[in-house]
Amino acid sequence: MTKINLSILALGVTLLLLGTGAQNPKKRPAPSKPPKVQCCDEVRSLKVQVANLTSLLEELGRKQKTDMMNVVRQIMELVKQDHQLEGRVTEAESKYSEINNRVEIMQLQTLQSATQTSSDATYDCASLYGKSYKISGEYKLPKDEFLGAPELSVFCDMETNGGGWTLIQRRKIGLTSFNRDWKQYKNGFGSIRGDFWLGNDHIFRLTRQPSTLRIELEDWEGQTRYAEYGFFTVGNELNSYKLFIANYSGNAGDSLRYHNNTNFSTMNKDNDKCVDDCAALRKGGYWYNCCTDSNLNGILYRYGEHTKGTDGITWYAWHGPNYSLKRVEMKVRPAGFQP
Ligand SMILES: *[C@@H]1O[C@H](CO)[C@@H](O)[C@H](O)[C@H]1NC(C)=O
Ligand SMILES: *[C@@H]1O[C@H](CO)[C@@H](O)[C@H](O)[C@H]1NC(C)=O
Ligand SMILES: *[C@@H]1O[C@H](CO)[C@@H](O)[C@H](O)[C@H]1NC(C)=O
Ligand SMILES: *[C@@H]1O[C@H](CO)[C@@H](O)[C@H](O)[C@H]1NC(C)=O
Ligand SMILES: *[C@@H]1O[C@H](CO)[C@@H](O)[C@H](O)[C@H]1NC(C)=O
Repeated sequence: MTKINLSILALGVTLLLLGTGAQNPKKRPAPSKPPKVQCCDEVRSLKVQVANLTSLLEELGRKQKTDMMNVVRQIMELVKQDHQLEGRVTEAESKYSEINNRVEIMQLQTLQSATQTSSDATYDCASLYGKSYKISGEYKLPKDEFLGAPELSVFCDMETNGGGWTLIQRRKIGLTSFNRDWKQYKNGFGSIRGDFWLGNDHIFRLTRQPSTLRIELEDWEGQTRYAEYGFFTVGNELNSYKLFIANYSGNAGDSLRYHNNTNFSTMNKDNDKCVDDCAALRKGGYWYNCCTDSNLNGILYRYGEHTKGTDGITWYAWHGPNYSLKRVEMKVRPAGFQP
């Protein structure tokens, strides 16, 4: 702040100086006309000298003026840098307050889990939302004996369409392989802030209460679409995590309907309704029918790289079988959720 004030002061002074500097040659009285004496060499010489002096002064004035302009330019540059610095400070301040916010959330969560009873259990992101956690991000759901729930890290979307969503899947980076076996799909894999599958056991547990599924898709042009199923549940492991969905709405098209009432398959457990081994062909774990109308756990191909085969991240109703999407999120919340 003081730096800026100083700069402005300096600028003012400079402008003052500049003013006098620039006006110097103008303000000088015009060289007096030589008296009407025709003869004397002395007068002629004086006349020349005066003319010389005048031009000299003018030149000096011009030089002074450009010097001053340079100084002014430098000062303006300094002022600009000051503004940039100020911007960076503001940015740092907002980062700091965001971190503070997170710390507060964690503290509150610790408090909550200490005083928790089964009736106000932190079961999912919707229950967190109900306890006024309204910032999207990573949360830790505490272990709950009553519900038979282990401690679990989840990512909560507290903004989309009212919030309260627990993410069960995300594709966006492409470094995590989704071509995994039954056990890995059962327990979950990947990183909760990046690409992950929450785990079929967790999805089963989350959807024991009537739940809504929301699927968000993004293509390589940055367009987004969604598909929502007012009802979504999966069976337990004994029932091969069989998919049940109903009541589609959205603008992406209903490319999960074809997978309704099918069991989950992985590379080492072929439960599909096909002679082909769909999990091996599509290179993911999914509720394969024969085989796909969507393949959200397929391979994440960069734009234009999905040239052969149908093992990309596809949603046929939007971009067909040969277009691997850029980004996917699958999320659930209780069917009766009120923001
Ligand atoms: C005018 O000034 C310049 C430089 O000061 C000098 O070289 C030149 O001789 C002067 N001319 C006269 C006529 O005094
Ligand atoms: C689908 O929506 C209708 C109308 O809202 C409702 O009556 C029905 O129970 C829903 N189906 C399921 C499986 O939730
Ligand atoms: C799905 O799995 C269950 C048991 O896990 C099995 O009884 C049923 O036949 C399977 N359905 C299909 C279509 O494979
Ligand atoms: C899925 O199958 C069930 C019958 O098992 C049906 O009630 C439901 O409407 C189907 N869902 C969709 C989206 O077609
Ligand atoms: C997708 O690619 C396959 C094989 O490259 C091709 O046979 C098929 O016609 C393509 N489908 C569409 C809808 O472009």
